[in-house]
Amino acid sequence: MRIAIEAKFKGWGGMYFSWLVKLQNGCIRRIRLMNYYNYLRYIIAVSVQYMLYLYSSFNRKGVYMAGKVLVAYYSYSGNTKSVAEKIPSIVGGELSEIKTVQKYPANYNEVINLAKKEKAENYKPQLVEMPDISAYDKIYLGSPVWWYTFATPIKSFLAGADFSGKVIIPFCTHGGGGAAETFSDIKNFCPDSVVKTGYAIYERSVKPSEMENWINGEA
Ligand SMILES: Cc1cc2nc3c(=O)[nH]c(=O)nc-3n(C[C@H](O)[C@H](O)[C@H](O)COP(=O)(O)O)c2cc1C
Repeated sequence: MRIAIEAKFKGWGGMYFSWLVKLQNGCIRRIRLMNYYNYLRYIIAVSVQYMLYLYSSFNRKGVYMAGKVLVAYYSYSGNTKSVAEKIPSIVGGELSEIKTVQKYPANYNEVINLAKKEKAENYKPQLVEMPDISAYDKIYLGSPVWWYTFATPIKSFLAGADFSGKVIIPFCTHGGGGAAETFSDIKNFCPDSVVKTGYAIYERSVKPSEMENWINGEA
């Protein structure tokens, strides 16, 4: 049995692809596969789907964003929350607040002392919920600076899942002392992740253009 492929052209709409099959008795059968219009329709459908996929992969500034984005943050008094909430409008992604089962005291001096103790004891407070990290490739991670590093609930978050191979883009808000060890400690805590350049903001003094530059630089 012999099989050959041929494309015939019979004017517009007449072009078609077909198999020529020579059977054992010597007869030749032609099996028509797809005419020109069906072929065109198929090409257009595939192209439209590909364009939609590409469109959903670019952010507002036209920068290519590979993978699914999560914006996870902890915030004690709202500063980090206010920064985190701006990120999805720039890059898309889902926002997830990290919450502890045991709330931190409302009294500032009490939380300062408690956080100092937690840091010294390498304590990891229990979280209300841990998002399913496996669904995301890129994680924007926000924390207030607590005693020169990231807040203890962030330690619970980072210890609560496998972050290897994930891209972590950290940001923090601080009270005047800058990021200090915050970003380098995240890097040390997640040696198998790609930790990008962090963005440190004094309390709520975030500048939208500066923030977009940071995001587009890291995208
Ligand atoms: C327990 C604790 C420790 C802090 N340690 C620092 C610090 O080491 N350096 C600094 O600049 N600010 C420090 N701050 C100030 C916070 O980082 C700053 O107010 C931050 O913007 C608070 O973010 P939030 O509102 O999201 O909780 C500390 C605040 C608290 C409550």
